[in-house]
Amino acid sequence: MCGIVGYIGKRDAYPIIIKGLQRLEYRGYDSAGVALYNDNEIHLCKTKGKVSDLKEKAKTDISTEGKLGIGHTRWATHGVPNDVNSHPHYSNSGDLVIIHNGIIENYESIKKELKNRGYTFKSDTDTEVLVNLIEDVQKNEDVKLGKAVQIALNQTVGAYAIAVFSRKKPKEIIVARLGSPLAIGVGEDEYFIASDASPFIEYTSNAIYLEDGEMAVVRTHKPLKILKIKDDSLVAPYIQELQLNLEQIEKGGYEHFMLKEIFEQPQAIKDTFRGRMLEKEGMIKMAGMDEHMNKFLNAKRIVIVACGTSWHAGLVAEYIFEELVRLPVEVEYASEFRYRNPVLEKDDVVIAISQSGETADTMAAMKLAKENGAFVFGVCNVVGSSISREADAGAYTHAGPEIGVASTKAFTTQITVLTLIALKMAYEKGKISKSDFHMHLQELDRIPEKVEKALKYNDHIEKVADKFKDAPNFLYLGRGFNFPVALEGALKLKEISYIHAEGYPAAEMKHGPIALIDEQMPVLVIATRKGHYEKIISNIQEIKSRKGKIIAVVTEGDEQVKDLADYVIEVPETMDSMSPLLTTIPLQLLSYHIAVLLGKNVDQPRNLAKAVTVE
Ligand code: AGP
Ligand code: GLU
Repeated sequence: MCGIVGYIGKRDAYPIIIKGLQRLEYRGYDSAGVALYNDNEIHLCKTKGKVSDLKEKAKTDISTEGKLGIGHTRWATHGVPNDVNSHPHYSNSGDLVIIHNGIIENYESIKKELKNRGYTFKSDTDTEVLVNLIEDVQKNEDVKLGKAVQIALNQTVGAYAIAVFSRKKPKEIIVARLGSPLAIGVGEDEYFIASDASPFIEYTSNAIYLEDGEMAVVRTHKPLKILKIKDDSLVAPYIQELQLNLEQIEKGGYEHFMLKEIFEQPQAIKDTFRGRMLEKEGMIKMAGMDEHMNKFLNAKRIVIVACGTSWHAGLVAEYIFEELVRLPVEVEYASEFRYRNPVLEKDDVVIAISQSGETADTMAAMKLAKENGAFVFGVCNVVGSSISREADAGAYTHAGPEIGVASTKAFTTQITVLTLIALKMAYEKGKISKSDFHMHLQELDRIPEKVEKALKYNDHIEKVADKFKDAPNFLYLGRGFNFPVALEGALKLKEISYIHAEGYPAAEMKHGPIALIDEQMPVLVIATRKGHYEKIISNIQEIKSRKGKIIAVVTEGDEQVKDLADYVIEVPETMDSMSPLLTTIPLQLLSYHIAVLLGKNVDQPRNLAKAVTVE
């Protein structure tokens, strides 16, 4: 899934590319590389490791001058992360250089043919095959670089966002996208290329998001030419004004993006319901939903597709929809759904949830749902992302950019949007009374303040983290609305601290996991006063009898669990359906502090990337 950056214009390209790559490191950080054009030559430097390693290497290895260049930060798919497999990749003649995000699925057969024609390959990547295919086309057909890229791409199967330039024609960069994102920042006599807009936000607020199947010829002093890869036909550029600002994508005084994003949740939740939840008027307004209200009102079933944390938000929504709307809900891993033969009816509403809006599996699942005639509603955070554009309609979570690889504010804002959808449906279908509807709106309005209160236990949670940081395993238990929260808490711990953790419905523990419990095993139990309180107390007793160590998340003022648990962390009281918005907070903080105490790279955990644009 990689991050790509490019620049062509009047400024020095290198500092723009390096800074841009650092902002895109969330997309992958196995290796980094840059290729600059200067003095009739391509100056290329690449290395395994981070952008900071590249910076060090470039100091001694290359001239960093030049007004044109491309850069890459890699999340390896084909070939181990090493210097040779790092991008950019040269073609055999050394004239062309490419960066690529995605996978060329038929690279092996192309490679075989090229080998037969005398081409040699240094790396194991699919990307090096593509750049040589472009070279081969250009040689055989005697066409300009743009045309050669177009012909070559039509011979490939897979996904890509690419940028290529030639030593022989150093006034242009050719870019193309299919299945991986690519934005072009439009300045005055200069263009920026990137996987998202963050690398060029301080230079221009004008951006063009290439659509799937489009390519562009980016030249200085000339207007941008956008074409369809399939047939060369021209596309009129559509320039959007960016809403992001630099402050939003920087750490703002926090040690890590993850901590900043955890603390941003009160505001993020507020921003997500602001203007939609009109509490005084007693209504919910969401343009994407309002325009298709008949679809929601006629729905016989709701199918939710998502991955990872977004899938957990879907599970929370299942409880909310069933409770409020009384409709059957199915929550599916997008990766499974897309390869099954799912039974979909035209009255199904499919909700695709994705922070990045670029997750390949979720995207494929929603395409399949559309093909089967279902109405697809997207819940995304990244504005203009592929999933948000592919959906029939949708609602954004207004969480702001989430940079930490471990998702936090995206989760709570997804639940906020899904709660709004469920409430609106329930009310309009007459499933809840006006007063009940009002009560829910009022409580949702109070949630940001309550999240703020939950965050006040941060120091206490850090102390608890210190007690358990060396545990090799963790169990997370919850019931009802808080069962998905237990799954999410376990995922957070696994992702950033590399401690094995499992989430279970508390009552399911006795059907197996209880065998794991001994005096070494920390068990985090979500035991808030609403929602099966007495039952969960029995589950705590069962753990205690087997000497497990209990960390309990309880409602403020709780005495009963306090007597039983080894450590308690309080959250304010709220209605059952909204409790995940609060109980998630201590779980996020606990995993954050454990990871920091263990010296792990919290924002960029190993093997992961923020946007998973490969299957
Ligand atoms: C969350 O902490 C994970 N990094 C991951 O599970 C993530 O939620 C998943 O990859 C889905 O991403 P999306 O929301 O951008 O589609
Ligand atoms: N397939 C390319 C590689 O392995 C790009 C990887 C990606 O974008 O995830 O280098």
